[in-house]
Amino acid sequence: MRVSVIGCGSLGAVHAAAMASLGHDVVGIDVDEAKVAKLTAGEAPFFEPGLTETLQAGLASGRLRFSTDYADIADAVVHFIGVGTPQSRDGDGADLTYVDAAMASLRPHLRHGMLVAGKSTVPVGTAARLAGEIADTGARLAWNPEFLREGYAVKDTVDPDRLVYGVADATHDEDVALLDEVYASIIERSTPRIVTDYATAELVKVSANAFLATKISFINAMAEIAETTGADVTTLADAIGHDTRIGRKFLNAGVGFGGGCLPKDIRAFTARAEEIGNGESVAFLKQVDQINLRRRQRLVDIVTESFDGDATDRRIAVLGLAFKPDSDDIRDSPALEVAARLHELGADVVAYDPEAIPNASRTHPQLGYADSLASALTGAEAVVLVTEWRQFRNLDPEQTAELVARRSIFDGRNVLDPAEWRSADWTYRALGRA
Ligand code: UDX
Repeated sequence: MRVSVIGCGSLGAVHAAAMASLGHDVVGIDVDEAKVAKLTAGEAPFFEPGLTETLQAGLASGRLRFSTDYADIADAVVHFIGVGTPQSRDGDGADLTYVDAAMASLRPHLRHGMLVAGKSTVPVGTAARLAGEIADTGARLAWNPEFLREGYAVKDTVDPDRLVYGVADATHDEDVALLDEVYASIIERSTPRIVTDYATAELVKVSANAFLATKISFINAMAEIAETTGADVTTLADAIGHDTRIGRKFLNAGVGFGGGCLPKDIRAFTARAEEIGNGESVAFLKQVDQINLRRRQRLVDIVTESFDGDATDRRIAVLGLAFKPDSDDIRDSPALEVAARLHELGADVVAYDPEAIPNASRTHPQLGYADSLASALTGAEAVVLVTEWRQFRNLDPEQTAELVARRSIFDGRNVLDPAEWRSADWTYRALGRA
């Protein structure tokens, strides 16, 4: 099938490459010339495992190309919208500038028989508005949200756990048939496919992210209680997680969630709910956000306490800058915020991350950055683990002790074995654990 993907960021670039790998003829469009040049050269513009290989295979097959020119989409039958919907500068709502700009540029090329399939996360009601705006072109609109996780984006796109199609009219089989043709190989594997209306499809995405954020903040709230009572939040999570109704996933307490999705999605959801008169229904999401943000400060506080309340000029190794492992994304990253706050308190912060230093040093040039894990650890008076990259999880207490100036470790993700570190004479501290 001939398809276009408008927007080649963390969602669109992956979607374009993934659609080519499914056998489609794909053109990816972006207004950023540098990004298009990189993609055309087979280089991923951001770190995402498997993306480079998928891109290069697509380019080599002749089925994948990138362009800044909307005229190149003329032959496509399905146009995916994969642009970003960041938090707006002046409030909590989503900024739809990029979606509106993409639709405006697409509009002159739309014809009867084409389907615009929105993948971006948008406030409920957006799809109905956009469908109205393109109705006179004869093209139709579906909302087909994406659930990919960074770090697993390619896999989640070619092998999703469900497909959701929001269509104008559930009896309008042509829209469904076009999406079924795009996703034929995924549907053949009996992947659940939900056909619904626009509002439900839009809400599936934001409510899924709101639920995940709530689950994380729930366990982080328990971590706060555990800190007061001497309980252990990781044992608590294991124990409640055995109940299959609860499940152990997304119950890892620590510095909390960040990234380009969960934080802005819960804020945008709250803002939209208020606009439509349902503010009370999701008022709890404000608490979810606050609990999450409190955990970053709590970690900073316990690190500072270990220096008797004054971290000035103390050398602190911060391990991790990305909002999660296997990503170079620093959007709303708890790790970067912890590093920045320690720096503000006068600490001599030396941060290390396997992938995110180029991004972090652009936005936070004031921080110290090490070019290796060993050099970050050398001379450190405190080691603060904030993003659970494999090489940090696998740190050896004895070997690490040979590098540092003081055996003091703070496990901001609850991924180290406290007993192992304590038996090597380390002072081990974590969030939600005695
Ligand atoms: C999320 C959703 O998982 C995905 O379905 C959606 O499409 C986009 O948003 P992503 O932002 O890539 O994906 O990250 P995710 O793996 O969900 O992690 C989000 C944040 O929560 C990370 O900062 C992570 O460290 C944190 N987290 C996750 C926890 O603090 N504890 C957990 O138990 C799980």
